[in-house]
Amino acid sequence: MASELKNDRFIRALLRQSVDITPVWMMRQAGRYLPEYRETRKRAGNFLNLCKTPELACEVTLQPLQRYPLDAAILFSDILTIPDAMGLGLNLVEKVGPQFDKTVRTASEIKALSVPDPESDLGYVMDAVRLIRKELDGSVPLIGFSGSPWTLATYMVEGGPTKEFGLVKGLMYDDPASMHHLLDVLADSVILYLNAQIAAGAQAVMIFDTWGGILTPSSYQQFSLNYMQKIVSQLDRQHDGQVIPVTLFTKGGGDWVRDIAATGCDAIGVDWTKNIGDVRAEVGDQVALQGNLDPCVLYASPEVIRQEVAAVLESYGQGNGHVFNLGHGIHQHIDPENVAVFIDAVHDLSAQYHI
Ligand code: CP3
Repeated sequence: MASELKNDRFIRALLRQSVDITPVWMMRQAGRYLPEYRETRKRAGNFLNLCKTPELACEVTLQPLQRYPLDAAILFSDILTIPDAMGLGLNLVEKVGPQFDKTVRTASEIKALSVPDPESDLGYVMDAVRLIRKELDGSVPLIGFSGSPWTLATYMVEGGPTKEFGLVKGLMYDDPASMHHLLDVLADSVILYLNAQIAAGAQAVMIFDTWGGILTPSSYQQFSLNYMQKIVSQLDRQHDGQVIPVTLFTKGGGDWVRDIAATGCDAIGVDWTKNIGDVRAEVGDQVALQGNLDPCVLYASPEVIRQEVAAVLESYGQGNGHVFNLGHGIHQHIDPENVAVFIDAVHDLSAQYHI
């Protein structure tokens, strides 16, 4: 429970309550830039075994927290667990990325899909959540997550990573009814999946809409935001007497933050293509903001990292409602020493904005 948290800065900031210093965590904080992650992954054999073995998922979730004074833990898993549970057969191919054995491209393939049961089909995720909560022992809150329906649909239709999104956008333009059916099944799946994570102990949830930003403004509304709104409206926003904050992150969605705020989410993730202060001016005190250091800043020297952190803090300005993060996931070739500089800079330089 948040009331038992030794460090509840992250939850307080998401709810726009006062904090002493700005909380910070990093998207992909458990990952390949850490040698101990690479070692555990080797022991697991492959990435999926790592996700599907709760003890190992728990171990890698905790690794960045053992190195750095982070203000939140994020469940180690992947957004593609849902399509995998729908029977598409996920593989992670070295240097290529995620690949599915089966794709979903026709009306009949879409009609054949069903909503996975979180405890029976994705029980390994819920077991990991329960184990991580136990191991964290109230030190920091645990974030649960899911992909957005649109982002999951892009991988299911394309079968893997793409630069053009020709198949998924072709389907959207040619057969919008089937695309809406696919997105509906995915939205229902995400609602059950996130509510099960909350029941298992996730203290905040985040929806990753990595590919919402490739849509036109009107198709973003119809095919991505609409379904995230449906999810937000059906999530369990309270558990064990505590509020469960919901964060929506559309990469490339900086022009649509007012619409995103109107879904009723608690916070918006902001990538590095906007000044976070400008976004704050647009949304006012409706939502908290999470972001938005360019992940490539972590390739720079410690002095530059501190300067760039200072610039983001100054851009957001005085007061509550800021969770510091990168604008997207940390890259695999970042030096772990630079991450320490980054985290310390956020904590050291932010106290002046909370007086
Ligand atoms: O943030 C965290 O530390 C939690 C773990 C996490 C992973 N994936 C682990 C992972 C989270 C939150 C995700 C989300 C995810 N997965 C997203 C949305 C966020 C984003 O980055 O935009 C997406 C689009 C995916 C799909 C996915 N999974 C891709 C494109 C890849 C390949 C990426 C790459 O860099 O090779 C994965 C694999 C993956 N998921 C890795 C990790 C640590 C790399 C696996 C490895 O090789 O060990």
